[in-house]
Amino acid sequence: MITVFGATGTTGAPLVDTLLAKGANVRAVTSDPTKLDALKAKGCEAVTANFTDTAALEQACDGAEKIYLVTPAHLDMRQWKANAIEAAKAVGVRHVVMATGLGASPKAGLTFGKWHSENQEQLKESGLDWTFVQPTYFMQNLLWQADSIAKDGVYHDDLGGPVAWIDARDIADVAAEALTAPGYESKVLGLTGPEAFAADDIAAILSEVTGRTVTSAPLSADEAKAAMMAGGMQDEVAAAMVELASIAPKGYLAGIETTVSDVLGRPARRLHDFVSENRDAFV
Ligand SMILES: NC(=O)c1ccc[n+]([C@@H]2O[C@H](COP(=O)([O-])OP(=O)(O)OC[C@H]3O[C@@H](n4cnc5c(N)ncnc54)[C@H](OP(=O)(O)O)[C@@H]3O)[C@@H](O)[C@H]2O)c1
Repeated sequence: MITVFGATGTTGAPLVDTLLAKGANVRAVTSDPTKLDALKAKGCEAVTANFTDTAALEQACDGAEKIYLVTPAHLDMRQWKANAIEAAKAVGVRHVVMATGLGASPKAGLTFGKWHSENQEQLKESGLDWTFVQPTYFMQNLLWQADSIAKDGVYHDDLGGPVAWIDARDIADVAAEALTAPGYESKVLGLTGPEAFAADDIAAILSEVTGRTVTSAPLSADEAKAAMMAGGMQDEVAAAMVELASIAPKGYLAGIETTVSDVLGRPARRLHDFVSENRDAFV
């Protein structure tokens, strides 16, 4: 049995699909009881557990040999992951595949890297087998502004430099491999897409795919933070996002990792294909 936390989320949902396609026994976890039926309809077990509820976390992990642990970017995410790791250990889970972020380590200088590192170190010290899945920016983030791109023909860029965007489905596919094949214990899997794109490149791809002119417009750090908070993000988390974005102009988010193709034996998904598959959202 493999328990998937965040099973309705950006990486968890495709992970459930990939694991089921591989024939794995999956228990999908949601905090929202109204999502249980849709999860069960995929052909897996489905249970509710909130990251704040230790007893429910233990029940969600009970009988599982492995778990996928991801939380949303949230001020409490360190405590939530800590609770899930404790619960996994308490009921005898053997291996935790945990999603963190590229560059997370005890030496990380950025807030997100430090936050993720705390849980990485905790998991290492837990005695459980561990694998860290460390992605860069998700291509799916572009969907956050799909409506305004469709309406105004403007891609708002808060990065100001190139990013090696990764398709979250590739994160899921790599996590699925780590959860079903041997040899991924104690591995740190840094994950990027195959190409780095800056705002003008993305606007050009959006224009080509939609057949409409899409231009890019820079978003200042203050504007980006205000937009994230307007979308419900907490102040400190939005500040950490802005801090992360601030290293893009220096080229620090443009490095390409070959992990996706190394693990999966096929190329990482391309941004052009992602935009094409989601064309309807952008028009
Ligand atoms: N987006 C990026 O570009 C990016 C880049 C690098 C790293 N990351 C990291 O990736 C992680 C986010 O991954 P993701 O996008 O796959 O996650 P996500 O979609 O944001 O969230 C996963 C799921 O967590 C569940 N959830 C929310 N609150 C919960 C609670 N209190 N208890 C239990 N479950 C709860 C939600 O599902 P239910 O409503 O069904 O409970 C949600 O679908 C973050 O740690 C972030 O730092 C993101």
